[in-house]
Amino acid sequence: MRRLSYLKKINTNKKIIKKYIEYNIFSFFQKKIRKNFINQYRNFLKNKNLTQDWFSQNTYDWKKVLANIENNNFDYLEIGSFEGNSAMFVLNFYPNARLNCVDSWDQFTDGNESFDIKNVEKKFDENLNSYKERYKKYKMKSEVFFLSNNEKFDIIYVDGSHLAKTVMHDCLESWKILKKNGVLIMDDYFWIGYENLKDNPAYAINEFLKIINNEYLILRVSKHQIFIQKK
Ligand SMILES: C[S@@+](CC[C@H](N)C(=O)[O-])C[C@H]1O[C@@H](n2cnc3c(N)ncnc32)[C@H](O)[C@@H]1O
Repeated sequence: MRRLSYLKKINTNKKIIKKYIEYNIFSFFQKKIRKNFINQYRNFLKNKNLTQDWFSQNTYDWKKVLANIENNNFDYLEIGSFEGNSAMFVLNFYPNARLNCVDSWDQFTDGNESFDIKNVEKKFDENLNSYKERYKKYKMKSEVFFLSNNEKFDIIYVDGSHLAKTVMHDCLESWKILKKNGVLIMDDYFWIGYENLKDNPAYAINEFLKIINNEYLILRVSKHQIFIQKK
């Protein structure tokens, strides 16, 4: 299903659709610079131990959206770290950032059951080994993390479960611990793995945005992610 018609089919807010169209227009004129930036990051990944690269495609958008953060000095939380790709980007590109990585490293249930999950966690540990002082690892389900956490964060990346119910929970809990002016990045906006459209991430994200109503600004809607800022 094409992205725009998908957004319309799930009754997406017009502001989001407008931002997505805007994104496509601007991206058209930035193709070369985007490609160069992404390739540069892919070169960095060549020395790393990854079986999947789901993240490099997002790096140029992250660089643009996070460009205004002072001194790159921020507290970052990510739900869903897998082999450490997104975490490595943040560690490498934002040398003053402090990271918190949450992943259950538990058997997958939503389409990637074939992954050897023990190996995935081992790769995460190896890939982040040289950044030891700058990140904390939380091996647990996101719901358990949210129950025990007392900290607030400047940037939160939700990239864990794909199931709408869990995505909604992760977004709502993240919103509570996101600082004012903080940025929430939600992945898999256009991921359609479940037959019932209401089970997919975008449905949950749209419902979540209805709940937080006027409390946010839409910063960007890319081909994979949605970036919002807490007012
Ligand atoms: C798409 S991967 C994350 C990709 C990663 N950000 C990257 O850049 O490669 C999703 C991850 O979320 C984790 N996950 C799924 N559901 C979770 C949950 N409820 N709590 C914590 N982690 C979860 C999975 O173990 C998996 O490693």
